[in-house]
This record gives sequence, structure tokens and C-alpha cells, in this order.
Amino acid sequence: MEALLINGGKRLEGEVRISGAKNAALPILAATLLADEPVRLRNIPHLNDVTTTIELLGRLGVSVTIDEKMSVEVDSTTITQFEAPYDLVKTMRASILVLGPLLARHGRADVSLPGGCAIGSRPVNLHVEGLRAMGAEVEIDNGYIRARSEQLKGARLVLETVTVTGTENLVMAATLAEGQTVIENAAREPEVVDLIDCLNQMGARIAGAGTDTLVIEGVERLHGTDYRVLPDRIEAGTYLVAGAITGGIVRVKDVRPEHLESILAKLREAGATVNIGDDWVEVDMRDRALKAVGLRTAPYPAFPTDMQAQFSALNAVAEGTGTITETIFENRFMHVLEMQRMGADFQLEVHTAISQGVKKLTGAPVMATDLRASASLVLAGLVAEGETRVQRIYHIDRGYERIEEKLRLIGADIRRINDSQ
Ligand code: UD1
Repeated sequence: MEALLINGGKRLEGEVRISGAKNAALPILAATLLADEPVRLRNIPHLNDVTTTIELLGRLGVSVTIDEKMSVEVDSTTITQFEAPYDLVKTMRASILVLGPLLARHGRADVSLPGGCAIGSRPVNLHVEGLRAMGAEVEIDNGYIRARSEQLKGARLVLETVTVTGTENLVMAATLAEGQTVIENAAREPEVVDLIDCLNQMGARIAGAGTDTLVIEGVERLHGTDYRVLPDRIEAGTYLVAGAITGGIVRVKDVRPEHLESILAKLREAGATVNIGDDWVEVDMRDRALKAVGLRTAPYPAFPTDMQAQFSALNAVAEGTGTITETIFENRFMHVLEMQRMGADFQLEVHTAISQGVKKLTGAPVMATDLRASASLVLAGLVAEGETRVQRIYHIDRGYERIEEKLRLIGADIRRINDSQ
């Protein structure tokens, strides 16, 4: 198994190019199943979750071609299977995103239930209830969601909880339903908006993107298109925290600064100077004292749960008391326990991690059980004294493109090793 070996203490300085957003690429790849012509996608990040999605499309019989620039062409007219099997869904919950498109376009979908997850129970009941309200017959059988429908019908759906992939699944299903669908309490994340922009470019009629009410007028067919996926705001935020935590100056480019607002507000609160351009953001922490922040995760536009672990690392070494409250997922503080092994001082309550900043962390072998937690351990390793070995980095490779190369370019001492432990 591979690990990342980090020698901490280097101040990071320089520029990082941000990749396409994982959480937009995955639903948009699923959306290609709705089209009756090839769809070309650009700025698809080179990530394990993308590879898993492409493998899933391949198992369905869909033709996928990738050129050297990671431009992906998907032709779903060759489809022969309608099942997302357990071995793929268990490695990536987002496989659930094929449920809505398969059902809407082909009248059937068998998708394995994702099961438990390292960051809480993560149910999919709202996906299922929404499809039922649109007239589908959905059964849970032998660990599979088995959905059938001759023709989905528009409906008024009020989501009990804001769910990102739930909203995406239901929007995709509604594009080919008969009549109008209204989704209330819809997710407003930029990745949901990106999916909707792509669907509209394919001929869908969806209004209200970026608000909590989506109105979808069903159409008979969706056609091919050429679409560029938006930049990854979580990857960008992670490199900005890397700059701040090491007392450096880091610029992320090819980003949409407006999507980073809640993250930038917390970096300012931590004492950083933030400079913003058209498609770049720079965090300058040189000769400034890092201060602990208080934050609470919530759906967009509030602070993203996917940046919570990275700010836990920041609070671990910042001056004063920090408070981080997680409201989206239960059990998302595993990284805090690992950071304690590096000398961090956290007190854990049910949904809150309270930190007293320490002057230094010390390197240690650590491992994480999810993607963003792994990234936070890399950040902690960048400031720790001595060597940190981050194990189980297949989690990081699910969501960060060449993280060690990008960090090395801005001055980190980090390398990937083969680790037999
Ligand atoms: C997506 C993101 C993930 C991010 C999360 C929250 C993708 C591929 N993943 O995950 O990176 O951390 O949004 O921003 O885009 N819920 C239910 N019933 C459901 C669905 C969800 O109760 O049917 C609850 C969940 O338990 C959770 C909350 O809703 O408490 C939000 O989860 P959700 O937005 O669905 O997360 P994902 O879409 O899985």
C-alpha cells in the first residue's frame, strides 16, 4: 500500500492550478446516460472516483473514450446493462447517481445500496422517496434498490433534508419525466448548479439553479453537448489552508472566487490576508499570527463539511481556543483523534471539536478513514516537526489530483512511498 511521507516545517510559497471539481464531474458523468447522442466533457479531474465512475459506465455497456488532455467522450447509446453492482458502489457511494438517469431513460435501474460509511450512516431514503413520488416502483431487495417505471411523471417534491446527490438524482430523473416537477428545499451547491447548466445545455428545461426551488419541465429527449466542468472549490480551499497553516503565501488559480466565500471568511478570521482576482485567490500568512476560528458546517452557501477537517488542522496549531461544529454528518471527527497522536489538544463533544492551539505538532504515522480527513492529516504533517507518514492514501487519491506533486511545487517536502505496513 502507498503512503505519503512528509517532513514538516517548510513554508509554502507559490501557485497551484486547481483541477475540475470531483463533485460536479461525478453527477455530470452520470447525466450522460440521459442523452441519445455522445457527450464530450472537459476539465474532468484525474481521480480514483472518476475512474470508478467510468468503470461503472463501462460495465453498463456505455462507450467512454478519453484523450490525453482528460477530455472524456461518453456515448451511452451502446448501453446493455442497468445495474450498479456492490463491488463498485461500496468503493464509491456516488455510484447512486446512476439511479435517476437509468430509470428516467431506460425505465429500470438496479443499484446496490451503499451501506455504512466511515463518516456516518448516510442514508439514501430521499432519493428513493422522490422517485416513488414520480410514479416509480422501487423495492429494496437483497441489498439492491430496484426501481422500475414505464414513464416517470412530474411531481412536487419537498426534501426533508438538504441533500446534494439526492437533489442531483431527482433533477436528472425529472428532465425526462412527463410534465412539471418542482423540487423544494433543493441543494444550492455550485456543483448542483454545474450539473443543471450541463443538463440545460443538453436540452433540459430546468429553472431555479442556485436557489432552493427547482422547476423542471420534462422534455422528450436530451441531446449531446460539449461541457467544461467547474473548478474544485474544496481542492482550492485545501491548498489555501496549506498556505495559511505553514505561514506562507499560496495562490490558487483557475478557480471561481465567488464559490470560496465562506472559506475565505474563515481564513481572514484566522489572520490571513486574502487577495482575489478574476480566477485566482491568494492567501498571505507571512509574518502573521495564526488564530483559531469558530465554525459550523451547513449546506451551501454556509461553510462546507468537506473543509471541516482541514480547518481542524489549522485550529490545532493556531493561537487560542477553536470550536468546530459539524451539523451535516455524524462521526466526522476521526482526523481529530489522529491529530491528537501528533500532539494536538482537542476536546471532543458529540458534534463539536474544541481545540486549544499548541505551539508544535510532532510527526507520527497516521491514517484516515475518509477523503477529507486524509487531506487534513497531510496539512498537519506539513507543520509538524519531523516525519509524518500518512497511510491509506487511496482515500486522498479519490479526491485530490497528484496532491504530492502540487504540494512539492510550492515547497513542501513530501513524497509517495510504497509502504508495506
Ligand atoms: C455530497 C458530496 C459530499 C459532501 C456532502 C455534503 C458528492 C458526490 N458528495 O454527498 O462530498 O460532503 O454532499 O455537502 O457530491 N440525507 C438523508 N437522506 C438522504 C440523503 C441524505 O437523510 O436520502 C442526509 C445525510 O445523512 C446527511 C445530509 O442529508 O446528513 C446531507 O447529505 P448529502 O448532501 O446527501 O450528501 P451526499 O450527497 O452523499
